[in-house]
Amino acid sequence: MFACAARVPELVYLGTPLAADEDLAAIALASARGRHESQADDPPTPSLLPLDGRGFLGTPALELLADGAAMAIDPVLRDTRAEPDAITFALADERAGIAINLRWRAVSPGVLVIETSLRNMGDAPVTIARLASLALPLPDWATYITRYAGRWSAEMRSETGVIGRGAWLNESRGGRTGFGGGNWLLAHEAETGVTRGQIIGLHLGWSGDHYSIVEGDADAQRRIQMGCRLDIGEIVLEPGTRFDAPPVHLGVSGEGRNGLRNAMTDHVRRHVLPDRADWPARRVHLNSWEALSFDMDEAKLKRLADDAAAIGIERFVVDDGWFGGRRDDRTSLGDWTISPDLFPAGLDPLIAHVEALGMDFGLWVEPEMVSPDSDLYRVHPDWCIHAPGAERPTQRGQLVLDLTRSEVSDHIFAALDALLSNHRIAYLKWDHNRDLFPRAMKGHAQVLAVYALIDRLRAAHPAVEIESCASGGGRIDYAMLSGCHRVWASDNNDAIERLRINAGWGQFLPLEVIGNHVGPSPNPVTGRRLSMDFRAKVAMFGHMGVEADPAAMSADERETLAAHIALYKEWRDVLHSGSCHWFDLGGDSLFGQIAIAADGGRALAIAARTDFADDFNAPRIRLPGLDADARYAVRLIEPWPDKARRYLPNGTRWRNGIAFGGAYLANDGLALPLTHPETAWLIGIERL
Ligand code: GLA
Repeated sequence: MFACAARVPELVYLGTPLAADEDLAAIALASARGRHESQADDPPTPSLLPLDGRGFLGTPALELLADGAAMAIDPVLRDTRAEPDAITFALADERAGIAINLRWRAVSPGVLVIETSLRNMGDAPVTIARLASLALPLPDWATYITRYAGRWSAEMRSETGVIGRGAWLNESRGGRTGFGGGNWLLAHEAETGVTRGQIIGLHLGWSGDHYSIVEGDADAQRRIQMGCRLDIGEIVLEPGTRFDAPPVHLGVSGEGRNGLRNAMTDHVRRHVLPDRADWPARRVHLNSWEALSFDMDEAKLKRLADDAAAIGIERFVVDDGWFGGRRDDRTSLGDWTISPDLFPAGLDPLIAHVEALGMDFGLWVEPEMVSPDSDLYRVHPDWCIHAPGAERPTQRGQLVLDLTRSEVSDHIFAALDALLSNHRIAYLKWDHNRDLFPRAMKGHAQVLAVYALIDRLRAAHPAVEIESCASGGGRIDYAMLSGCHRVWASDNNDAIERLRINAGWGQFLPLEVIGNHVGPSPNPVTGRRLSMDFRAKVAMFGHMGVEADPAAMSADERETLAAHIALYKEWRDVLHSGSCHWFDLGGDSLFGQIAIAADGGRALAIAARTDFADDFNAPRIRLPGLDADARYAVRLIEPWPDKARRYLPNGTRWRNGIAFGGAYLANDGLALPLTHPETAWLIGIERL
């Protein structure tokens, strides 16, 4: 709810829906604060566009330069356009020659999309130093912030704290979304938990550099701003032109993190993912990377495909190493031709083999990159983003192609288009394995060029699914997801780490897009050994896959893995369609979630313990999200975890199913043996 009486619009109410007959004017009245001694005579309000120059002392949402000097900007609300599900505020500063549009759209229950644009109405160029996509005055109850920070193989670590005085700033400079950073935020009450409490979720739908500012002032006003981060001089608005800031997706719930999660994931399914309603079931992948790495050729891949098919795999993905002279990660990016020494008859015999085994075929690419040691670079050394005359520092031995140049984009499009036109390829894993430096003032334009390239490719090959990967989860955001079907959540397939990482992504993403693979043991990233039972159960709660060589597993492990792949196929419509709720188990070594089908008829839960419990009796597993008045048959789905099964009394009853009321399951719950590290149970629930 907004107030429009002041110079700029103000936010009066943001929270759970109000009663239809609520008196909005009364709420505005109750929210108004009086002026105190140490303020401007016209004191700052909870403005949607806080700016410098009228006594607001925080970070301004808009900063412009003209002729290299800061411009004074003082816009006024000129027009408010209300539509059934949207409101647009048109502000203008005629003296400065700028117009700003703030558009708030209610897109699905509990979710708004906020879009901001700036037009240069004057007759001289204007440089944008900063334009917040959203400047959000927080409701008084939102005194806590949960933010994310990650790194390679440890994405989306969260941290919660009080929003005190002063500002917390997160700025990214790597030219990509990053491993979990300031583009995801939660603002909430102190008491907000998994199932209770008010909470706001914010996400900037942008795949490049971004910033977010969380600040509080001496008047206990708290604010969040989010936007794309621009290098000074990068965006110069010529007279008559417009700049569109990337959208912010804002979710709000009065039912804690689960409520927010389901509002956001519902929105992603309805409005972000491409044609989500038409998606076929999410096929089980086998990806060659942790099975073969660069040690591949046609015969080895055919053997791997045979072993994959035998355990129930449905999509066979050839990862890095199939093209040009790419026998290690120092070379050949940009040479998107099939290596004749690995595939003497091309890719088709392998694809035919894979298809004959009942699987479809996927391929890894890293289209935005070029290796200095590549045919492409030898012919076009100027095609990478670089500072003229300066050195070209690499990361993973590679440079970034300048896709803002049409000849470069056209070349890469032609290479990918040829691959997809000439071979039966169902899926691309689209990787991006380095930060963008130097940015050479192209950080923003490069992101738009990547979107254009993906759009062009999808238009030419609409049936091809794309996964967004960037050394794992380095480029996961709603903007990428509007052109992709899956994200690679992390290079870390260690199931214990994945429980943590997926808890971060799962706050904002539905399970069906979270690529979640069974890795080898010992795990190549952490060195940890985990039982196949644990690895496979954890991998089911996402878009399941295998990133290991079945030939390197014992017969028992293969059997266990195949059994879980079969279970995933049986339950994926439940996992990928309805709602998903975490359990409130306290501590950080017990994880659990329940996925409930959209019609409420079936549900699948996992309860997992990562380390050795202090108490023999683990907390009961209380199952949120079910219908309190319904009755359910609950069974523990086999195979059961080896270490824990001997502590389970009444095994036959659990195997066959026991009936409970939904209220009992939510309030009291199940006493399961969860004492030992690396044990997990699957709980199958059917409405009676
Ligand atoms: C990145 C990806 C991995 C794998 C390798 C291949 O690190 O995240 O999954 O594809 O590249 O080089």
